[in-house]
Amino acid sequence: MAFTFFFRDINVINAAVKAVMPNITGRSRAYIWDAGCAMGQEPYTLAIVLAENMGHFAFGNIRILASDYDEGGNFEKIIADGVYGYEELKRIPEGLFKKYFTPFGEKSFRVIDMIRESVQFVKHDLLTLKPVKENVSLILCKNVLLHINESQRLEVIKMFHGALSAGGRLGFENTQKMPDKISELFERQDGDAVIYTKKDISAVLA
Ligand SMILES: C[S@@+](CC[C@H](N)C(=O)[O-])C[C@H]1O[C@@H](n2cnc3c(N)ncnc32)[C@H](O)[C@@H]1O
Repeated sequence: MAFTFFFRDINVINAAVKAVMPNITGRSRAYIWDAGCAMGQEPYTLAIVLAENMGHFAFGNIRILASDYDEGGNFEKIIADGVYGYEELKRIPEGLFKKYFTPFGEKSFRVIDMIRESVQFVKHDLLTLKPVKENVSLILCKNVLLHINESQRLEVIKMFHGALSAGGRLGFENTQKMPDKISELFERQDGDAVIYTKKDISAVLA
Protein backbone atom coordinates (compact mmCIF):
# COMPACT_ATOMS: atom_id res chain seq x y z
CA MET A 1 0.00 0.00 0.00
CA ALA A 2 2.87 2.42 0.58
CA PHE A 3 4.45 2.10 -2.87
CA THR A 4 4.98 5.46 -4.52
CA PHE A 5 7.60 7.59 -6.29
CA PHE A 6 8.71 11.19 -6.76
CA PHE A 7 6.65 13.29 -9.20
CA ARG A 8 3.72 10.85 -9.19
CA ASP A 9 0.49 12.61 -10.36
CA ILE A 10 2.56 15.71 -11.04
CA ASN A 11 -0.38 17.37 -12.87
CA VAL A 12 -2.35 17.29 -9.59
CA ILE A 13 0.58 18.62 -7.57
CA ASN A 14 1.22 21.44 -10.05
CA ALA A 15 -2.47 22.37 -10.06
CA ALA A 16 -2.65 22.26 -6.24
CA VAL A 17 0.37 24.54 -5.90
CA LYS A 18 -0.96 26.97 -8.50
CA ALA A 19 -4.33 27.06 -6.73
CA VAL A 20 -2.90 27.64 -3.24
CA MET A 21 -0.32 30.28 -4.18
CA PRO A 22 -2.61 33.31 -3.57
CA ASN A 23 -3.47 31.96 -0.07
CA ILE A 24 0.14 31.45 1.04
CA THR A 25 2.07 34.21 -0.68
CA GLY A 26 3.18 36.92 1.75
CA ARG A 27 2.29 34.87 4.85
CA SER A 28 4.86 34.59 7.65
CA ARG A 29 3.79 30.97 8.15
CA ALA A 30 1.54 28.69 6.10
CA TYR A 31 0.76 25.02 6.72
CA ILE A 32 0.13 22.30 4.17
CA TRP A 33 -1.03 18.80 5.08
CA ASP A 34 0.00 15.82 2.98
CA ALA A 35 -2.31 13.07 4.25
CA GLY A 36 -1.15 9.51 3.49
CA CYS A 37 2.39 10.59 2.62
CA ALA A 38 3.97 7.11 2.46
CA MET A 39 7.76 7.39 2.82
CA GLY A 40 8.13 11.04 1.89
CA GLN A 41 8.31 10.96 -1.90
CA GLU A 42 5.09 12.95 -2.22
CA PRO A 43 5.65 15.67 0.42
CA TYR A 44 9.18 16.20 -0.91
CA THR A 45 7.82 16.49 -4.47
CA LEU A 46 5.29 19.02 -3.19
CA ALA A 47 8.06 20.93 -1.40
CA ILE A 48 10.19 21.07 -4.57
CA VAL A 49 7.28 22.35 -6.67
CA LEU A 50 6.44 24.96 -4.01
CA ALA A 51 10.07 26.10 -3.79
CA GLU A 52 10.22 26.45 -7.57
CA ASN A 53 7.00 28.48 -7.69
CA MET A 54 7.52 30.67 -4.62
CA GLY A 55 11.26 31.26 -4.68
CA HIS A 56 13.47 29.93 -1.94
CA PHE A 57 13.13 32.90 0.43
CA ALA A 58 9.30 32.80 0.61
CA PHE A 59 9.37 29.00 0.70
CA GLY A 60 11.11 29.26 4.09
CA ASN A 61 7.70 30.18 5.57
CA ILE A 62 6.03 26.95 4.48
CA ARG A 63 5.62 23.91 6.74
CA ILE A 64 4.42 20.63 5.25
CA LEU A 65 2.89 18.22 7.77
CA ALA A 66 3.25 14.78 6.23
CA SER A 67 1.06 12.17 7.92
CA ASP A 68 0.56 8.44 7.56
CA TYR A 69 -0.62 5.64 9.84
CA ASP A 70 2.68 3.97 9.04
CA GLU A 71 1.89 0.39 10.03
CA GLY A 72 5.57 -0.61 10.12
CA GLY A 73 6.60 2.35 12.28
CA ASN A 74 9.61 3.33 10.15
CA PHE A 75 8.45 6.27 8.02
CA GLU A 76 9.63 8.99 10.45
CA LYS A 77 13.28 7.95 10.13
CA ILE A 78 13.09 7.36 6.37
CA ILE A 79 11.56 10.81 5.82
CA ALA A 80 13.99 12.55 8.19
CA ASP A 81 16.94 10.88 6.41
CA GLY A 82 15.56 11.85 2.98
CA VAL A 83 17.63 9.21 1.13
CA TYR A 84 16.12 7.47 -1.91
CA GLY A 85 17.16 5.14 -4.73
CA TYR A 86 16.99 5.41 -8.52
CA GLU A 87 13.61 3.68 -9.00
CA GLU A 88 11.83 6.30 -6.90
CA LEU A 89 13.77 9.23 -8.37
CA LYS A 90 13.91 8.48 -12.09
CA ARG A 91 10.86 10.55 -13.10
CA ILE A 92 12.21 13.82 -11.70
CA PRO A 93 13.18 16.29 -14.46
CA GLU A 94 16.99 16.40 -14.68
CA GLY A 95 17.37 20.08 -13.81
CA LEU A 96 15.30 19.73 -10.64
CA PHE A 97 17.06 16.51 -9.70
CA LYS A 98 20.48 18.22 -9.88
CA LYS A 99 19.19 21.21 -7.94
CA TYR A 100 17.48 19.39 -5.06
CA PHE A 101 19.44 16.13 -4.53
CA THR A 102 23.02 15.26 -3.63
CA PRO A 103 24.70 11.86 -4.05
CA PHE A 104 24.59 9.66 -0.97
CA GLY A 105 26.62 6.45 -0.88
CA GLU A 106 27.05 4.48 -4.08
CA LYS A 107 23.51 4.29 -5.44
CA SER A 108 21.36 6.73 -3.49
CA PHE A 109 20.59 10.42 -3.36
CA ARG A 110 19.58 12.73 -0.52
CA VAL A 111 17.05 15.55 -0.58
CA ILE A 112 18.84 18.85 0.19
CA ASP A 113 18.47 20.39 3.68
CA MET A 114 16.20 23.28 2.64
CA ILE A 115 13.58 20.84 1.33
CA ARG A 116 13.99 18.29 4.15
CA GLU A 117 13.59 20.97 6.80
CA SER A 118 10.20 22.03 5.38
CA VAL A 119 8.64 18.57 5.93
CA GLN A 120 7.63 17.17 9.32
CA PHE A 121 6.29 13.63 9.68
CA VAL A 122 3.27 13.02 11.95
CA LYS A 123 2.13 9.47 12.68
CA HIS A 124 -1.62 9.73 12.23
CA ASP A 125 -4.60 7.55 11.28
CA LEU A 126 -7.16 9.45 9.18
CA LEU A 127 -9.92 7.29 10.66
CA THR A 128 -9.48 9.00 14.04
CA LEU A 129 -11.25 11.89 12.23
CA LYS A 130 -9.05 14.38 14.09
CA PRO A 131 -6.95 16.71 11.93
CA VAL A 132 -3.19 16.95 12.48
CA LYS A 133 -3.67 20.73 12.47
CA GLU A 134 -6.37 23.31 11.80
CA ASN A 135 -6.18 26.32 9.49
CA VAL A 136 -4.14 24.54 6.86
CA SER A 137 -4.03 26.16 3.43
CA LEU A 138 -3.86 22.98 1.36
CA ILE A 139 -4.55 19.30 1.98
CA LEU A 140 -3.21 16.80 -0.52
CA CYS A 141 -4.64 13.30 -0.13
CA LYS A 142 -3.75 11.12 -3.13
CA ASN A 143 -4.24 7.41 -3.60
CA VAL A 144 -5.38 7.00 0.01
CA LEU A 145 -9.18 7.33 0.16
CA LEU A 146 -9.62 4.37 -2.19
CA HIS A 147 -8.40 2.18 0.69
CA ILE A 148 -11.35 3.04 2.97
CA ASN A 149 -15.09 2.47 2.58
CA GLU A 150 -17.59 5.06 1.38
CA SER A 151 -18.95 6.13 4.76
CA GLN A 152 -15.43 6.49 6.17
CA ARG A 153 -14.47 8.51 3.08
CA LEU A 154 -17.35 10.94 3.70
CA GLU A 155 -16.28 11.46 7.32
CA VAL A 156 -12.62 11.94 6.41
CA ILE A 157 -13.47 14.54 3.74
CA LYS A 158 -15.71 16.38 6.24
CA MET A 159 -12.78 16.37 8.66
CA PHE A 160 -10.59 17.85 5.89
CA HIS A 161 -13.21 20.58 5.38
CA GLY A 162 -12.98 21.50 9.06
CA ALA A 163 -9.16 21.52 8.99
CA LEU A 164 -8.86 23.90 6.04
CA SER A 165 -8.62 27.66 6.41
CA ALA A 166 -11.22 29.81 4.62
CA GLY A 167 -10.78 29.26 0.88
CA GLY A 168 -8.33 26.41 1.52
CA ARG A 169 -7.71 23.81 -1.18
CA LEU A 170 -8.07 20.03 -1.25
CA GLY A 171 -6.42 17.81 -3.86
CA PHE A 172 -7.07 14.16 -4.76
CA GLU A 173 -5.58 11.86 -7.40
CA ASN A 174 -7.15 12.07 -10.88
CA THR A 175 -9.61 9.22 -10.32
CA GLN A 176 -10.94 10.22 -6.87
CA LYS A 177 -14.07 12.35 -7.20
CA MET A 178 -15.85 14.33 -4.50
CA PRO A 179 -18.78 12.16 -3.25
CA ASP A 180 -22.14 13.67 -4.27
CA LYS A 181 -23.44 13.56 -0.69
CA ILE A 182 -20.95 16.21 0.46
CA SER A 183 -20.32 18.05 -2.79
CA GLU A 184 -21.84 21.22 -1.29
CA LEU A 185 -18.80 21.54 1.00
CA PHE A 186 -16.36 22.21 -1.83
CA GLU A 187 -16.20 23.92 -5.18
CA ARG A 188 -14.44 22.08 -8.00
CA GLN A 189 -11.89 23.98 -10.04
CA ASP A 190 -8.97 23.78 -12.38
CA GLY A 191 -10.24 21.83 -15.36
CA ASP A 192 -9.30 18.17 -15.21
CA ALA A 193 -6.99 18.27 -12.19
CA VAL A 194 -8.83 17.20 -9.04
CA ILE A 195 -8.56 20.33 -6.91
CA TYR A 196 -11.38 21.65 -4.72
CA THR A 197 -11.85 24.91 -2.81
CA LYS A 198 -13.45 24.89 0.66
CA LYS A 199 -16.88 26.50 0.79
CA ASP A 200 -17.89 27.98 4.11
CA ILE A 201 -21.10 26.07 4.82
CA SER A 202 -20.82 25.21 8.50
CA ALA A 203 -24.55 24.38 8.76
CA VAL A 204 -24.07 21.36 6.51
CA LEU A 205 -21.77 19.77 9.09
CA ALA A 206 -24.21 20.14 11.98
C1 LIG B 1 -0.60 4.14 -2.19
S1 LIG B 1 0.07 5.07 -0.90
C2 LIG B 1 -0.10 6.71 -1.57
C3 LIG B 1 1.08 7.57 -1.27
C4 LIG B 1 1.01 8.97 -1.89
N1 LIG B 1 -0.05 9.76 -1.29
C5 LIG B 1 0.87 8.92 -3.39
O1 LIG B 1 -0.14 9.38 -3.92
O2 LIG B 1 1.77 8.41 -4.04
C6 LIG B 1 -1.23 5.05 0.34
C7 LIG B 1 -0.76 5.53 1.69
O3 LIG B 1 -1.90 5.80 2.50
C8 LIG B 1 -1.63 5.36 3.81
N2 LIG B 1 -2.91 5.15 4.49
C9 LIG B 1 -3.89 4.28 4.16
N3 LIG B 1 -4.93 4.37 5.03
C10 LIG B 1 -4.59 5.33 5.93
C11 LIG B 1 -5.22 5.88 7.09
N4 LIG B 1 -6.43 5.44 7.51
N5 LIG B 1 -4.58 6.86 7.76
C12 LIG B 1 -3.38 7.31 7.37
N6 LIG B 1 -2.71 6.81 6.29
C13 LIG B 1 -3.31 5.83 5.59
C14 LIG B 1 -0.80 4.11 3.62
O4 LIG B 1 -0.02 3.80 4.78
C15 LIG B 1 0.09 4.50 2.43
O5 LIG B 1 1.30 5.07 2.83
